[in-house]
Amino acid sequence: MVIGSGLAGLTFALGAASHGKVGVLTKGEITESNTTWAQGGIAAAVGEADSWELHERDTLIAGAGLCDEAAVRFLVQQAPEAISWLQSLGARFDSDGGDLSLGREGGHSRNRIVHHADRTGWEVERAVSEAVRSNPDISVFENTFATRLLMDEGRCVGVQAHIEGMGERIFTANSVMLASGGCGKMYQHTTNPSVATADGIGLAAAAGAQIANMEFMQFHPTTLFHTQMRSFLISEAVRGAGGTLRNHLGRRFMYDYDTRLELAPRDIVARSIEAEMKKHQTWCVYLDTTHLLEPQLTHEFPTIYERLQTIGVEMEKDWIPVVPAQHYSCGGVVTDLQGRTSIPGLYAAGEVSCTGVHGANRLASNSLLEAMVFARSASYACVNERAEGTGKIEPIHAISEAEAIRIRRSLQKTMTENVGIVRTFDGLQKAARVIKTLIGEYDRLPNAPYSQYAVEAKNLLLGAENVVAGAIARTENVGLHYNSDLGIIE
Ligand code: FAD
Ligand code: SIN
Repeated sequence: MVIGSGLAGLTFALGAASHGKVGVLTKGEITESNTTWAQGGIAAAVGEADSWELHERDTLIAGAGLCDEAAVRFLVQQAPEAISWLQSLGARFDSDGGDLSLGREGGHSRNRIVHHADRTGWEVERAVSEAVRSNPDISVFENTFATRLLMDEGRCVGVQAHIEGMGERIFTANSVMLASGGCGKMYQHTTNPSVATADGIGLAAAAGAQIANMEFMQFHPTTLFHTQMRSFLISEAVRGAGGTLRNHLGRRFMYDYDTRLELAPRDIVARSIEAEMKKHQTWCVYLDTTHLLEPQLTHEFPTIYERLQTIGVEMEKDWIPVVPAQHYSCGGVVTDLQGRTSIPGLYAAGEVSCTGVHGANRLASNSLLEAMVFARSASYACVNERAEGTGKIEPIHAISEAEAIRIRRSLQKTMTENVGIVRTFDGLQKAARVIKTLIGEYDRLPNAPYSQYAVEAKNLLLGAENVVAGAIARTENVGLHYNSDLGIIE
């Protein structure tokens, strides 16, 4: 059984289906995922002037000393083959004279971002979901929300899930792949779609799986600052193509922060923007693409160009107002190179997992790659798993939607105010207290008719509890974790 139909879940399903029957549970329609929204692309050392060693070095530098080196090597060595695999499924990537066109993003020393204009995720999800749909050994259950992992004598033996219109059901399995994606909805502003509610962390925490590094929450430096379209991503590839960051006075302020300027790793650029906004007491900074020509902008960034036009911003004429927003969770459920978690029978891959490749900060466009590489490896490793357990349906505690809205808003406010790009011990302790209170309130509130929105609220609380606990326990500033009480990052 697979929980999730993003790139990790569907990649695993396609691999595992060579050995048996696979079921994919997904809480919305098959393509509702972070994967579908990915813009920039997939990092792979496929260019002539590139090598896996350089990709490895860049990944380790971005990860700020906390990457698992074996996991990074495993990732980067398999990247070219992962791209070929996607192409074999029919994924189309931009090319130039027969060679793949390679974009540039922050922290990469070479052009190595394989892409489909600025909608790479949409193209990749299209290719894998079509392959899954036409595979007779894979059954997809849409609108099916995993509510509990079935455990039998310490082993995961399946999933309890709520099927829309049918209620709770049991799915037993020889192995379970947790591929439920991210947790952005614990913040007020996130690039993530509404499905990113930390369900995998909630499920894994309840089952007792090891979870780590959740304090390394990545904030994307450049999301649109606009009242009606908050948090729409302006891809890092725009900076890779020459976009520059300016403050309200027009100064290219990255000169004051890092010699790599706009293409420094993401944690540095996001922190610099935050510092610049605080320094000048402004609500945003600006991304300047006015020196780029319209044909290039419309060819490389059609989605972004069109979206900005709808609010009257012309990329070749106007500066784009941008602010950082939550984007990606580097931590998650701890796995080995084969995606095995600390619970026998339970695997994890993609954004919900912590494979060790990102360390304290993910290198741009390494996450679609990670989702594929580790899901494929797990699909080979799970072949010999056998589970006998059955499990029985247990009631799921859902609160009323009105209470769930109140709890979610309160959580998002405290996470945004206290567990953002710059943290303090006081703020973290305050967030810990608020989350503890909200969990207590959720647990004491009376049972209401089943609501997915409400159960997601509980998962968000459990996810946030892990983020805050990790941040409090971290005693030095590294990568994405910056606590101003601990002093400056060297
Ligand atoms: P997802 O693609 O999020 O899939 C998770 C799935 O699990 C979904 O189908 C969801 O519905 C399902 N699910 C969740 N909970 C449950 C439950 N309880 N029951 C049943 N189903 C459930 N990365 C890159 O490498 N390159 C990029 O260019 C890039 N751009 C990005 C742009 C944006 C706007 C965003 C948001 C992310 C971007 N990322 C990018 C990050 C990347 O897209 C994600 O990390 C990656 O797609 C995660 O894949 P996944 O399969 O782990 O999760
Ligand atoms: C982007 O296009 O800027 C997102 C890339 C990523 O998250 O890796």
